[in-house]
Amino acid sequence: CGIVGYVGRREAATILLDGLKRLEYRGYDSAGICTLDGSGLQLRKCVGRVDALIAAVRARPLQGTLGISHTRWATHGLPSDANAHPHLDQSGRLVIVHNGIIENYADLRRQLVESGHQFQSQTDTEVLAHLIGRHLDEQVPRGQRPTAEQVVAAVHQATREAEGTYAIALLHADLPDCLVGARRGSPLVLGLGRGENFLASDVSPILPHTRRVIYLHDGDIVLLRSDSYRLWAGDQPVERPVDTVQWSAEEAELGGFPHYMLKEIHEQPGRVADELRRVLRSEEGTVEFDSLAPHLDELASMRRFILVACGTSWHAALAGEYLIENLAGLPVEVECASEMRYRQRPFEEGTLVIAISQSGETADTLAATRLARQQKVRTLALVNVVGSTLAREADWTLYMRAGPEIGVASTKAFTMQLLQLTLLALWLGRRRGTLSRSEGRRIARALKAIPSRMQRILAAESRIVRLAKKYYRFTDFLYMGRQYNFPIALEGALKLKEISYIHAEGYPSAEMKHGPIALISPEFPSVFVIPRDALYEKNLSNLEEIKARNGPIIAIATAGDREIRKKVDDVIYIPPTLDCLQPLLTVLPLQLFAYHVALLRGCDVDKPRNLAKSVTVE
Ligand code: G6P
Repeated sequence: CGIVGYVGRREAATILLDGLKRLEYRGYDSAGICTLDGSGLQLRKCVGRVDALIAAVRARPLQGTLGISHTRWATHGLPSDANAHPHLDQSGRLVIVHNGIIENYADLRRQLVESGHQFQSQTDTEVLAHLIGRHLDEQVPRGQRPTAEQVVAAVHQATREAEGTYAIALLHADLPDCLVGARRGSPLVLGLGRGENFLASDVSPILPHTRRVIYLHDGDIVLLRSDSYRLWAGDQPVERPVDTVQWSAEEAELGGFPHYMLKEIHEQPGRVADELRRVLRSEEGTVEFDSLAPHLDELASMRRFILVACGTSWHAALAGEYLIENLAGLPVEVECASEMRYRQRPFEEGTLVIAISQSGETADTLAATRLARQQKVRTLALVNVVGSTLAREADWTLYMRAGPEIGVASTKAFTMQLLQLTLLALWLGRRRGTLSRSEGRRIARALKAIPSRMQRILAAESRIVRLAKKYYRFTDFLYMGRQYNFPIALEGALKLKEISYIHAEGYPSAEMKHGPIALISPEFPSVFVIPRDALYEKNLSNLEEIKARNGPIIAIATAGDREIRKKVDDVIYIPPTLDCLQPLLTVLPLQLFAYHVALLRGCDVDKPRNLAKSVTVE
């Protein structure tokens, strides 16, 4: 879900609706807005996209220079007008929007109902609104108006009783220049403008107006007026540093592309090139990690790694396992964060947990990282979003530097995760001596050639469009690859299913004969990632096994491989590179293929159904 709040001198509705558009990737099954003007709270909410809300506001315009708004990804209660945020309290004078889950909401609701409260929706958010309202009533004598401080105190008391996670923004009809926010477990950023202030789930709605932000911490409550703000940690006043965001608003815009996903796919060569220029020391065949500089000795002394993540980031972790093991000779385990967080796993001494997350806000990844920290295990966050919770909580942080990723299906963040893990493996290998200087230089040279090779793949997009036209009507796909390309097979299948809703499975090539081969038929195509690498011949035998069952095959193969053409139905060629760098290239055609298939099937590629970019609930 996404939150935007505004207090200032301009028309709040315009700023809030523009902000919601920028946050829509966080959830889009319903949306709502509330402003405060001379005649009181003005509420509009509806099922569907932000555009539906914009139309509703156009039909019945909203006035006021103070407001809150929300785009929702349903957790409790179906998407419906009633369940859409904002939600009012019992008095109808206090209104909130909320991200997260109040776990004990059923108990709280029962208590409130017993004391006479009536609810309009099934949401946990409405329960939270009523709870805050009840605490406010307890403080304010009947017939009197509350002060802003009393509202802050009521928020503090209610959030102490509520279990679970929240980021909220709140207005009260009697306080025409006050916006209150609070967070625990869900992100909330404060934007500081001139004569106006903002609250939002991430910086994207704030960036068009100001780059000065404060990242709230868990337990923080903030009171914003148009020209001032006050912060509390619980009930204690607190100060937090003001950060300047480096991303620009333009970077988070479409820039002439029809979709964010396509724009982000095309950004990959440039992002990789920039990062290599920044950190690669080609002469030495190694890498300079400035952000980790004070910890390099300790990093080099680590004896094993646990990589933990969700979704696409988990696929990057799987590739990281091969990279670190092969280049640095150190044992690596990969864990799904949602599994690791509930395991009773012993951690050996000298273990580093690397938590990988584009957003830095994924609930399971955060929980797994906290578990490691409780066991006194060192943690390194590999994240994209600066100031995110994971970046703050881990012992050390390495940024992906992918720039803002808006498309729900992750593309450039994935390649930047791969790149950072490659660089880490190279650095570890050189530092530990498993890679000689000349081996390091060879990898550095090959890395430098990656951006132009990526460009070549993207330049052949029309070939992939043709293939998409040929295959988009199939309903099932199997993706296969070995070693470095096994995670790429998983990622290729995930991209296709996420945005085109075609059933697709990723498998290690040789494992296919232990089950999925039963499905193969002329109606069930396979995508084989089969570059000219160490296991090319083995892969070829697996491919023959599919061919023998008359399954159509698309191969992702190395340019110059003529043989393969005779064995498969279609080939997408990619330029040659070292085995360990293959994933940086092989994933690109799979991203483009998924994109074009989804387009042909009429799907909304940037906002696939049921998905959210940032999953801040368990
Ligand atoms: C969601 C997104 C995926 C993403 C995953 C992990 O499911 O839809 O694209 O890979 O969360 O997100 P993270 O921000 O932790 O990388």
